[in-house]
Amino acid sequence: MYRAFYSLSRKPFTKEIETKHLFPSKSFTELMARLNYLKDSRGIGVVVGEPGAGKTSVLRNFALSLNPSLYKVIYFPLSTGTVMDFYRGLCYGLGEEPTFRKVDLFKQIQEGVTSLFYEKKITPVFILDEMQLSNNKFLNDLSILFNFTMDSDNPFILVLAGLPYLLDRLALSHNQSLNQRIIMRYKVTPLDKEEVKNYILHHLELAGAKFEIFSPQAVEAIATRSRGWPRLINNLATNCLLYGCQKRLECIDEEAVIKSAQEAGL
Ligand SMILES: Nc1ncnc2c1ncn2[C@@H]1O[C@H](COP(=O)(O)OP(=O)(O)OP(=O)(O)O)[C@@H](O)[C@H]1O
Ligand SMILES: [Mg+2]
Repeated sequence: MYRAFYSLSRKPFTKEIETKHLFPSKSFTELMARLNYLKDSRGIGVVVGEPGAGKTSVLRNFALSLNPSLYKVIYFPLSTGTVMDFYRGLCYGLGEEPTFRKVDLFKQIQEGVTSLFYEKKITPVFILDEMQLSNNKFLNDLSILFNFTMDSDNPFILVLAGLPYLLDRLALSHNQSLNQRIIMRYKVTPLDKEEVKNYILHHLELAGAKFEIFSPQAVEAIATRSRGWPRLINNLATNCLLYGCQKRLECIDEEAVIKSAQEAGL
C-alpha cells in the first residue's frame, strides 16, 4: 500500500535485489578485490562480518562474476543440514554420487576436485557460508579435506564466511592447521554516513522514486540507528515507509524514523 502512496513502481529495500543492482560500498568493492585476489592465487579465504553486513550478497556477486566454463561454484550454507549432509552436498556439487562412509566421501571429494582441476581445467570454488555454526571437529576435517598433493598445490578456492567470532575460533591452537593456510581474510565494515545516504537513494531509485521521500535528517537518523548495517537500514527504511503511509506523511522526517523504529522494536 505504501508503494502507491509514494508512487513507487516496486518495493525498495528488499532482499530480492538483483546482484547487478547491489550497492557498491567501499567495503563491498574492497571485498570483491580480495576475492579476486583469492581467485588468482587459489587456496583458502575467510570473510567475516556482523549479521546483515552484506557477506552473502558479496559472495553471491563474486560467484556470478566467475566464468562458468573455468569455475564451478559450490555454495553451501551450514544452516541447512548436518556435517555429513555437507560432505554429501560437496560430492553432489562435484557431480558425484556420494558414498556412505566418511572416509570414502573424503576420497571421493578429493578425487572430484583433482579431476575437475587437472583434467577438465575447471577450478572448483567452495563457498561455505554461516561457518559460525561449525564445530572444531569440522574445522579440523576441512584442513584434512583441503590438503592436496601433500599441500604443494591448491587445485581449489575455498571461502569460509561467518560472524566475526569465526576468526577467534580459527585462532585457537587446535585450529592452527587450518588457520595457517588462510591466505585472505576480510572483515566487512559498515557503511559510513555518506554511504548510507547513497544506499537509501540507490534503493529508492531502483524502486522508481520520483521525489524526495526521506528528509536529510531522516537519513541521518537511519544512519545512526542502523550503525550502517545494510539489513538494519532496509528494515528501518521499510518500517518508515509503512509508518509514513499510515500517517499520510509525504516526506519522512526524523521524528517518523524514531517513532517507526520504536513501533517496530528496532
Ligand atoms: N551492497 C548491497 N547492496 C544492496 N543491498 C545489500 C547490500 N549488502 C547487503 N544488502 C542487503 O542487506 C541484507 C543483508 O545482507 P546479507 O544477507 O548479504 O548479509 P550477511 O552478512 O550475509 O548476514 P548474515 O550474517 O545474517 O548471514 C540483504 O537483504 C541484502 O539484500
Ligand atoms: Mg549471510
